[in-house]
Amino acid sequence: MADGVAPDRNLALELVRVTEAAALGCGRWIGRGDKEAADQAAVDGMRAMLDSISMSGVVVIGEGEKDEAPMLYNGEEIGNGQPPEVDVAVDPLEGTRLTSVGQPNAIAVIALAERGTMFFPGAAVYMDKLVGGAEVADALDLDVSPAENVERAAEAKGVRPSEIAVVILDRERNQPTIDGVREAGAKVNLITDGDVAPAIAAARAGTGVDLMMGIGGTPEGVIAAAAVKCLGGVVLGRLWPRNDDERRQLVDAGYDPDRIVTTDDLVGGDNVFVAATGVTDGALLRGVRYTRGGAVTDSIVMRSRSGTVRRVEAQHALDKLERFSGRQYR
Ligand code: FBP
Repeated sequence: MADGVAPDRNLALELVRVTEAAALGCGRWIGRGDKEAADQAAVDGMRAMLDSISMSGVVVIGEGEKDEAPMLYNGEEIGNGQPPEVDVAVDPLEGTRLTSVGQPNAIAVIALAERGTMFFPGAAVYMDKLVGGAEVADALDLDVSPAENVERAAEAKGVRPSEIAVVILDRERNQPTIDGVREAGAKVNLITDGDVAPAIAAARAGTGVDLMMGIGGTPEGVIAAAAVKCLGGVVLGRLWPRNDDERRQLVDAGYDPDRIVTTDDLVGGDNVFVAATGVTDGALLRGVRYTRGGAVTDSIVMRSRSGTVRRVEAQHALDKLERFSGRQYR
C-alpha cells in the first residue's frame, strides 16, 4: 500500500505477542541464578509464537551462528513465509544476567525492517555508541568528547549539564567516557548489563534517561537503532575491534572500523516495526508481574512509518495459555 493511500497492516501489533511469550517464558527464571535457563525459556517462548506471524523473515541479528544456536540463529527463516519479506533482529532475553539476579532493565525485543536493510555486525562484537532523543539528535557527534556531547545535549534541551542523565555500561573500557561525562557535571547511571532498554529510554521523553553512551554490543546497537527510527532521535556508532586480529578480520570483510555509522546505516528501511516487553522493571517498561492464576506484561509497540508508539498492558490467564499452547508458564 503506497504512502498516503490507506492505512495498512501494523506488524508490530502482532509482534507484541512474540515478545510477551518470550517474557512470560523467562519470567519464571527471574532471580533464580540461572541465566542459561532464563535465556532458553525466552528463546523457546519466542520461537513458538513466531511462525504465527504472516511474514517471510530472515534473522539478521539472532542468537548466534547456526552451529552454536539451535534456534533463532543468524540466517534462519522465520514467519509463515507470506509477504512481506523482512530482516529480523531478535533478542529474546536482553539482559540474561540481569534476569538471573533480579536486576532492572531486562527486556524481550524484536525488530523488523525491509529485507536487506539491517546492518549485519559480522565479527564486530562491540561498538562505541551514542544515543539520544529527537531534541538532541542534531547536536550529538561521536567525534567530539563525551563532555562536549553532554554540554550540547544540555543546550539542546535547555537544561544544565548537571540535569543530564547518561547511562553507561560499567566496564573498564568505558572509564574514559564515564570520567568525561562526570567532568561535564552530568549524572552517570552505571549499569552492569543490558544497554538496549536504556538506549530506547534515551530516545523516549519522560523516562529520566537523556543519553546512552559507551562501548557495548553491536547487535544491541542495531536493535536500538530500529527503535530510534520509530521514536525519533539518533544512534551513532563506531565499531570497536578488541584487537588487531579482529580489526583485520573486519577490514577484510569490507567494514571500516574508523567510520561513524548512523541510525540509517544500522537500519536503512523506512518501514520498521519494533515490539519489546519488560522482563524486569526498568526505566522503559515494567517487568512481568504475577497475579493469582495469571501474569501481567507491559510492552511498547512502535512503527516508524506512522510514528505510532503504543503501550500495551496485557493480562495473561496462565492456566488457559498452558492448556491451549501445551507450554509451561508457571
Ligand atoms: P546478555 O547477552 O547476557 O543479555 O548481555 C547483553 C549485554 O549486556 C548488552 O546489553 C550489552 O550491549 C553487552 O551485553 C555488553 O557486553 P559485555 O558484557 O561483553 O561487555
